Amino acid sequence: MPPDLQTKLAQPLRIGNVTLHSRVFQSPLAGVTDRVFRRLVRRYAPHSLTYTEMVSASGLHYAREMPRVMEVDPNEAPIAIQLFDCRPDFLAEAAERAVAEGAQIVDINMGCPVNKITKNGGGSSLLRQPEVAAQIVRQVVARSPVPVTVKTRLGWSEQEITILDFARRMEDAGAQAITIHGRTRAQGFNGAARWDWIRRVKEVLSIPVIANGDIFSPKAAGRCLQETGADGVMCSRGTMGYPFLVGEVDTFLRTGKLPSPPPVATVLTVAKEHLVWLYDYKGASGIRQARKHLTWYAKGFPGAATLRGELCRVETLTQGLDLLDRAIDQAAALPVLPTAADRED
Ligand SMILES: Cc1cc2nc3c(=O)[nH]c(=O)nc-3n(C[C@H](O)[C@H](O)[C@H](O)COP(=O)(O)O)c2cc1C
Repeated sequence: MPPDLQTKLAQPLRIGNVTLHSRVFQSPLAGVTDRVFRRLVRRYAPHSLTYTEMVSASGLHYAREMPRVMEVDPNEAPIAIQLFDCRPDFLAEAAERAVAEGAQIVDINMGCPVNKITKNGGGSSLLRQPEVAAQIVRQVVARSPVPVTVKTRLGWSEQEITILDFARRMEDAGAQAITIHGRTRAQGFNGAARWDWIRRVKEVLSIPVIANGDIFSPKAAGRCLQETGADGVMCSRGTMGYPFLVGEVDTFLRTGKLPSPPPVATVLTVAKEHLVWLYDYKGASGIRQARKHLTWYAKGFPGAATLRGELCRVETLTQGLDLLDRAIDQAAALPVLPTAADRED
């Protein structure tokens, strides 16, 4: 990495009145980034901003109890609570509750491509309603004592790449940072993320721009920051079954050195912790939720496919722990994984 870039990356990042001591973020991932997952990520990346799963502001308005997806650990920091909806008044109300729960940043989802969300006017459909999106930001900012940020995509479709105008409007409305996933809503997760568009946004905004999309390795993060000039990067799918990634990227950006990859036995030991913590937190439903995580951890070593086939059917904590213990014993004889640190992409 060029020395001037490394110098910039070593500086804290200010988002409104919040100072962040890492420029590598863990993305919000519905069904993944609950308290348990965030605790694992934070162990390897203590200064990185993490996000809750997205929380429906309407749901919050009508529900008596706070949904579990909004829970944060006591003293969990830095943490953003992510909200979605199309109603500025509900979002402003939800932001107050998010702050009461411990959010240091309130993030508004304007990128989710899922029909269930867009048909109700939330997520990426706000890219087509920039006036409503701006009104949302204004109203939330007016009621929120903490910085308000936006996470979005390049536009609705290839024919409607509107991010330059949209991002400027969000800044004018009072957003303190913007995260851009370099794909359109129509792309879903297909094709490569277009970092060139993120560069163009960075060139026209004054608030911090966070680059997102296809950061699967420390080297990819370095390239992305170089190509976009962004103020930070957000890791996402690359962290599923690999909560080491954010920490690895952070170390690489700070030192220029690729961190040593964790041995298979370590990865599987973390999988075990994930399982136990999910069980402690959510009981039997935690075991069902753990299945997908466990299969993501079991990757890239001899016997992994068989193990995945077993892990995706675990019914009890004991069964899961037995399977993982057996795999850890076998893994003791294996070499280190070709980890994200070595992978180009
Ligand atoms: C399973 C899954 C759940 C997601 N949930 C959210 C979410 O709740 N909020 C959000 O803003 N983005 C969500 N995203 C999008 C990611 O945060 C991120 O923008 C996207 O994965 C692109 O980054 P990547 O190419 O590095 O994976 C989700 C993505 C996936 C795959």
